[in-house]
Order: sequence, then structure tokens, then C-alpha cells
Amino acid sequence: MRGKLVIGNWKMNGSLDANRRLLQELLPPLAAVKGVEVAVCPPFPYLAQVCALLEGSSVALGAQNLHSAGQGAFTGEVGAGMLEELGCRYVLVGHSERRSLFGESDETVAEKFEAVLRAGLVPVLCVGETLAQRRDGSAEAVIAGQVRAVLQRVGGAGIAAGVIAYEPVWAIGTGETANPEQAQAVHRHIRALLGEAAATPILYGGSVKPDNAAALFAQPDIDGGLIGGASLEAASFLAICRAAQ
Ligand code: G3H
Repeated sequence: MRGKLVIGNWKMNGSLDANRRLLQELLPPLAAVKGVEVAVCPPFPYLAQVCALLEGSSVALGAQNLHSAGQGAFTGEVGAGMLEELGCRYVLVGHSERRSLFGESDETVAEKFEAVLRAGLVPVLCVGETLAQRRDGSAEAVIAGQVRAVLQRVGGAGIAAGVIAYEPVWAIGTGETANPEQAQAVHRHIRALLGEAAATPILYGGSVKPDNAAALFAQPDIDGGLIGGASLEAASFLAICRAAQ
């Protein structure tokens, strides 16, 4: 039986003050939520602050991105060892915003996935199709290419040490969610691609809100959520974590 995992991706949001207020409101009631692993991914500059605020709670820390090299002349970049040192457990790789706005290819994403594994952390591989790809019938092939690039690089055992997040690009930040059956169909497709790694957790992301979370999480191949906008507000993130119980 795979457990449930809910990850809040704060994207490029937050401030020292807002982070403190959010976690002060979130952590006490979240302690009563059992059987769900919860993580938050703040922007890089806040990792140390958030790590300290999370101390004593069961909430894990994650990062939103990294460079695949460990260290060196890569101005502006961050290596996996640095994230490990700052207390991260999870690292998102290949978020659709990284792919579309920063030109990350399937190969770049696979290198990053491998770098996270090398550091002993848990990579969260984000995959998903655009609206145009869904409409022209290529969604399954696009997702298969994104998953296979990582499988080829790290093998089944490598991918099984990570997490996959299916995020249809057309559902991210739009208020439009894949309905539970649409999401389940893609999750089943992804699980079928994984072979020996079929037990890898697969999260759904894309406009998950308190009112749709329970129906999504009830699907047999949906193991939790990657939450953007709704993770910035304590009450809505808490309600989503509760829906995963
Ligand atoms: O990483 C999170 C996803 O991009 C979902 O964002 O919940 O704001 O749609 P959203």
C-alpha cells in the first residue's frame, strides 16, 4: 500500500514575514493529520529559515530546482549537496515552468534527477502535456518521452527512489483541473510505463483545491498532490492535507 504525499510548491512567492506567519498557522493543526507525508518547497533564499521553522514538526523541506553539477563555475546555480546541507529531503525537477520558461529538455531534467539521487535526496519528476498536445492526441507520447528519458538514465531502481508528479500544463494556475477520471487515466498510463518501478508514488498537480482534492486523491493511482497556489494559504493547504488522510 503506497502512502499519501502532499507537497506545497511555493514557486517564487513568500517573504521572511509571510513564511513565518504561514507556518505558524499551518503547523499546529497539521500535527493532527496522520498518515500523510507533507513537504513544502520555498524559494532557495528561504530554505534555511523554513528549515528552522519546521524543526520539531514532521513536515519535510524541499527545493524547487537545482543544477546537475555538484559545484563549480555555474553563476547563479545551486547544487544538490548544498540543498542536502540545508536540510532538504525533496527536490522538484522538470517542473513545466522550468521546461517552458527556462528551456529545460527531457535530457537536462534526467541529469538533474540523477544529481538529486546522487546526493541521497528524493527527486520529484514533474511531467505533463500542454493543452495543444492534449488536443492533438499526443499527450500520452509526450509524457512517455518525459518519463523514459529519466528511466534510461537512472533505470527502474533509480526512478523508484523518487516521486513522479503529473501536472497537465493546462491545469496549472488556471483554476481548471483535470477531473478525477482524466487524471486517473494518465496516472495509470504512467504506472504502466514504469515496469519494475510501478510502486513509485505518482502525485497529481494542477489547480488542486480543498473542494476537489478528496476526489482526486481517492483515485487508485493518485498518491497525493503537488500543490501550487493553494499551498500559500494555511487553511487551504491544511484542508488539502486532510483530504489525503
Ligand atoms: O507545482 C505546482 C503546480 O504547478 C500546480 O500549481 O496548484 O497553482 O495550479 P497550482
